[in-house]
Amino acid sequence: MKDRIVDKLRQYRDLSDAQLRELIKSPAHDEALMQAADAVRREWYGDKVYLRGLIEFTSYCKQNCLYCGLRAGNKRAQRYRLSEEEILACCEEGYRLGYRTFVLQGGEDPYYTDEMICGITAAIKERFPDCAVTLSIGEKPRESYERYYRAGADRYLLRHETADPVHYARLHPDNMSMENRRRCLRDLKEIGYQVGAGFMVGSPYQTTECLLADLRFLQELQPDMIGIGPFISHKETPFKDEKNGTAELTLRLLSILRLMFPYVLLPSTTALGTIHPSGRELGLKAGANVVMPNLSPVQVRDKYAIYDNKICTGEESAQCRGCLERRIESAGYRAVTDRGDVRRAKSAVKMEE
Ligand code: 5AD
Ligand code: SF4
Ligand code: FES
Repeated sequence: MKDRIVDKLRQYRDLSDAQLRELIKSPAHDEALMQAADAVRREWYGDKVYLRGLIEFTSYCKQNCLYCGLRAGNKRAQRYRLSEEEILACCEEGYRLGYRTFVLQGGEDPYYTDEMICGITAAIKERFPDCAVTLSIGEKPRESYERYYRAGADRYLLRHETADPVHYARLHPDNMSMENRRRCLRDLKEIGYQVGAGFMVGSPYQTTECLLADLRFLQELQPDMIGIGPFISHKETPFKDEKNGTAELTLRLLSILRLMFPYVLLPSTTALGTIHPSGRELGLKAGANVVMPNLSPVQVRDKYAIYDNKICTGEESAQCRGCLERRIESAGYRAVTDRGDVRRAKSAVKMEE
């Protein structure tokens, strides 16, 4: 199917603001978008889907983001922390299941000092030298990021959440600022991390202009990974009555992102799998090439409740692994077990396969 705007986006990896707005708003281009995005992901990554073992190691958070179930203000949240030994046991299990990236994710929890984070990172790298360690533990001073990097951390995920300052202020309390978030992302890049940014789709007060700003911000930042997923309301937050984001718009944005950033590592997120029964499969077909199965101990899984009705909270890591493998295959792709580092933006050479 011919679609001029989609063809142009594929060719130039960019469009005018007006054309991007049109793509974001109108379902008319969806089919062409998905087809083009899948073609581009296959040029760059073949049918490979990279697996990241996600370890949600603390549900404590000192921040108070209005959308998140782990916010400090949620007194009903169940809190837990994993010890270094428990984290290493998760990695052990993950390694057995074929994962070669471990993502340590948590709320902003001052209990874990920089020394502890460095110790945990170094221990994982020592025990599993062929694995990448990704940290996702929020906003920190540059110095802390430098220490984690020296301890062996390879990658860092920190979604920018929204690139529109007014929108940012409506999603966050006054003590959080878009400027500091951007400072963190700049520092992480300068230090040498592979960096992941991203945003929620359909968050309260989000407009097409916000999404356009997100795309422009990502062009400026040039991240290696981009995490997006639908906003899903959590009943113990100020946004409990807000509408969820949709799978439709999330899929559309995944395809747009694949065409704008052909090389990027793009997860098909658990949030997408939560709002739609085959959300993650559809995400892969729309251009995503990463999935991040949960490796946390089953006893704590339902306590890491960022949003309501999260999937995969009742199953063991091995069950998720098998379930995912089948889902990836049913979508027409292949789960691989290598580290899956980013294919660099500047490289002119594409996949040989
Ligand atoms: N719905 C969907 N995603 C959420 N996040 C936080 N709260 C929600 C929610 N209610 C996302 C944020 C954060 C990431 C860890 O999870 O984008 O960066
Ligand atoms: Fe904490 Fe992250 Fe949730 Fe914000 S989004 S409250 S920083 S866990
Ligand atoms: Fe976790 Fe299906 S991927 S149960």
